[in-house]
Amino acid sequence: MATAPFTVAIDGPAAAGKGTIGRAVAAHFGFAHLDTGLLYRAVGAQVLTGRDPIEAAQALEPSALENPALRTADVAQAASKVAVIPEVRAALLDFQRAFARRAGGAVLDGRDICTVICPQAEAKLFVTASAEVRAQRRWKELQERGQNVDYEQVLEDVRVRDARDSERATAPLRPADTAFVLDTSELAIDAAIARAIAVVEAKRGLSV
Ligand code: DC
Repeated sequence: MATAPFTVAIDGPAAAGKGTIGRAVAAHFGFAHLDTGLLYRAVGAQVLTGRDPIEAAQALEPSALENPALRTADVAQAASKVAVIPEVRAALLDFQRAFARRAGGAVLDGRDICTVICPQAEAKLFVTASAEVRAQRRWKELQERGQNVDYEQVLEDVRVRDARDSERATAPLRPADTAFVLDTSELAIDAAIARAIAVVEAKRGLSV
């Protein structure tokens, strides 16, 4: 029997751990998970091949999210650039809202999930960490994937993306007033996941 919708909305800057936390929370509760950054990355990747961003967003198919090539630094910057365009954001809205309200529960992570996509979400978290800690984690991840990049360059990329994501006019990155702020700068990932699960658990208790 399908259970009622229950939305966990997670926002935060690049490389704060929200994807890992989102996936773990979804697995714990048996919810579906959507990394909404992949939507913008899929559009950004198409723009890098010369396509118009609005057209690419309007024609986006969920199967485009499966592409492992979406995880590169170039695609991340392209995603951050297309994410500034209001028509791109509008084209991706319905898919995200429908995903959030699917039967059986859903976790969405991104930049504007608590503030714009799902302000009524039952549980809201803002996952953050210092720029240096986030750059260090991203650098390690890229090394492990065989992408040999300079730490200073990764830190610069994180800062540029933070500025663009936070300063844009449409749906800028900011913590929702009602979001639980989880700073992972000094938390191991297991502790951060446990904290997030406890927050959702408390809200689950209230909603049943
Ligand atoms: O989470 P990520 O690094 O995969 O996101 C890539 C870019 O997409 C990010 O720099 C800004 C944009 N984005 C957004 O504007 N809104 C979201 N909900 C998710 C991502």
